[in-house]
Amino acid sequence: MRISVIIPAAGAGLRLGGETPKQYLLLNGEPILKRTLALFSVLESVKEIVIAVSEDYQAQVASYNVPKVRTVLGGATRAESVFCALKALDGDTEIVLVHDSVRPFVCRETILSVANAAQKHGAAVACSPVSDTIKIADSHGKITATPDRAALWQAQTPQGFTYETLLRAYAAAEADGVLATATDDSMLVERNGADVYIVKSSQFNIKITTPIDLKLAEVLPLSSDCSLVGMSPRSLDSFQESEGASGALPDSSDRSVVGMSPRNLDSFQEHEGASGALPDCHIVETPPRSHSKKVTIYTDGACSGNPGPGGYGAVLIFGGRRKEISGGEKETTNNRMEMLAVIKALELLKEPCEVELFTDSRYVVDAIEKGWAVRWQKNNWQRNKKEPALNPDLWARMLLILEKHSVKFHWVKGHAGDPNNERCDELAREGIEAIL
Ligand code: C5P
Repeated sequence: MRISVIIPAAGAGLRLGGETPKQYLLLNGEPILKRTLALFSVLESVKEIVIAVSEDYQAQVASYNVPKVRTVLGGATRAESVFCALKALDGDTEIVLVHDSVRPFVCRETILSVANAAQKHGAAVACSPVSDTIKIADSHGKITATPDRAALWQAQTPQGFTYETLLRAYAAAEADGVLATATDDSMLVERNGADVYIVKSSQFNIKITTPIDLKLAEVLPLSSDCSLVGMSPRSLDSFQESEGASGALPDSSDRSVVGMSPRNLDSFQEHEGASGALPDCHIVETPPRSHSKKVTIYTDGACSGNPGPGGYGAVLIFGGRRKEISGGEKETTNNRMEMLAVIKALELLKEPCEVELFTDSRYVVDAIEKGWAVRWQKNNWQRNKKEPALNPDLWARMLLILEKHSVKFHWVKGHAGDPNNERCDELAREGIEAIL
């Protein structure tokens, strides 16, 4: 799937007070917008991110150095800003995700679920169930209706659409003179006659708008993992399939569900489709948990030519179980394959684990154990003033997955008879052969 992401960020956003638009305020030392961009940038299927910004902030956004990002000048309203970005997208795109610049807590699974639902249905919106009773009032403040709460959803972003669906809806709205008043993208698609489906999302996916939101944002966990932020997303139709036709949806607003999404904790994830990539984000040390599963992982990368066709291999050992993975890419480097082996192996773990990881790559071990990768990330992926850090996309992805687990890296000498290292080498070579 080829995904383009639009981030409208051209608003003055001064409801938080002060001179600085809300998307440029710092959250744990990082601009909110930069964090939001990084969440999308590291996803493999995301090919480009177009941000609508005001002229004054173009240079600042460029200085974030987030891969895949381009800026365009925004318009007078949110919808007009989105339209400016939409017109600037790569015409090859399949799915467009529109996401507010000030929603830095969206989790990876929500992003991918919205994209998948958009591909299936043409249009999908991340929504959370409404827990308050909602009133409709007239201009005098007199209540005129109390809609049935069970049918109400709070629309969030991302909102995902096939490129044609969104383009048609925006063009029609402009022609009809209603573009400026739209407060989200879905309403324009709905008025244009397309069906839009809900993907159930966490209430933690907040839009930072008011000073209270900012206070809340400061205490929420910065994690891309849905299981750590309340729940895994589910699309409405898949939910109905599993729950019967009643349409009764469970309450996801309960904070007690944090970190307790029901999963089979004993098994590795078999499905790699959604493993795509993981967001760059604020690094939080994950302390070892006494109840964590202990997993041993061996990894290796190989490259024929460097650069050239490359492969990765990994062996995961948990209790009495063993799992092997391998894969390849047509044009890559040895270091990238060493990194990808680690990332792919860790992305298979379904819950936070204590991991002993063995690799023959000094580059990987030193960058993590000596803190280089964290430093590069803090320095906007610069090794020093002149030299950029190589492979920022994969380092960002690795640092993020490392947030979730407690991983100790060990260097082993390659081709020195260690059976698991030798096996990873074979798997990496098989990965190359598979793509040639
Ligand atoms: O004002 P509101 O919170 O609905 O804005 C939602 C998003 O739209 C924000 O990310 C804001 O920066 C963006 N926006 C924009 N261009 C405008 C007004 C708002 O890109 N003219």
